[in-house]
Amino acid sequence: MTIHIGARPGDIAETVLMPGDPYRARWAAETFLTEPRLVNEVRGMLGYTGTWKGHPVTIQGSGMGMPSLSIYANELIRDFGVQTLIRIGSCGAMQEKVKVRDVILAMTASTISTPSRGIFRELQFAPCADWSLLRAAVTAAEAKGTALHVGGIYSSDTFYDERPDLNEQMTRHGILGVEMEAAELYTLAARHGRRALAVLTVSDHLLTGDALPSDQRERSFGDMVEIALEAAFA
Ligand code: ADE
Repeated sequence: MTIHIGARPGDIAETVLMPGDPYRARWAAETFLTEPRLVNEVRGMLGYTGTWKGHPVTIQGSGMGMPSLSIYANELIRDFGVQTLIRIGSCGAMQEKVKVRDVILAMTASTISTPSRGIFRELQFAPCADWSLLRAAVTAAEAKGTALHVGGIYSSDTFYDERPDLNEQMTRHGILGVEMEAAELYTLAARHGRRALAVLTVSDHLLTGDALPSDQRERSFGDMVEIALEAAFA
């Protein structure tokens, strides 16, 4: 057990999917895993372990934002020996060609700051996805016929942004979407020699104002979970 994860040693699989929302962790575990069991409920940040096609998998909520994700990812890596961490989450689109419900695979995650910022000083570290996971996720998404985009995303510290000029610069530089966790996940995975990827479903659009109605969210998010699982065990 760690400070934030009440699981016993052996309760957590080497492969962990990390949605921000703990209820989405429950939904994904109950929908996609065989015999999911609750392994963590400290602070309501639900985590489940089961199997997918015979492979052990944990689905653990990360909470919203990089400080929260950093707590769970650090404990999963350092204390539970997790090797593969895949964020499954939503993002806001920042390009016209990206539509609500599309899936984005985050090749890189630009950011102003992560909880790891202090160790880099003047260096602008470039957090990037694990290549083997990214390649396998592209293959899985193409096989499914998912509307897919692969490229850079932006990990923000704020959902309610007071810097429209910054969003404009992100759009201008080809950033596909904005979310709030991937840059720290990629940075931690790089530091500890683990594999990480963010598979994101577009839930809203910063340029058009479109948004996914809540009753359509689950079906769209299902593709993302399957792509993540297939990539993890390719
Ligand atoms: N996650 C989903 N939509 C988002 C947005 N517009 N900004 C930041 N994170 C998000």
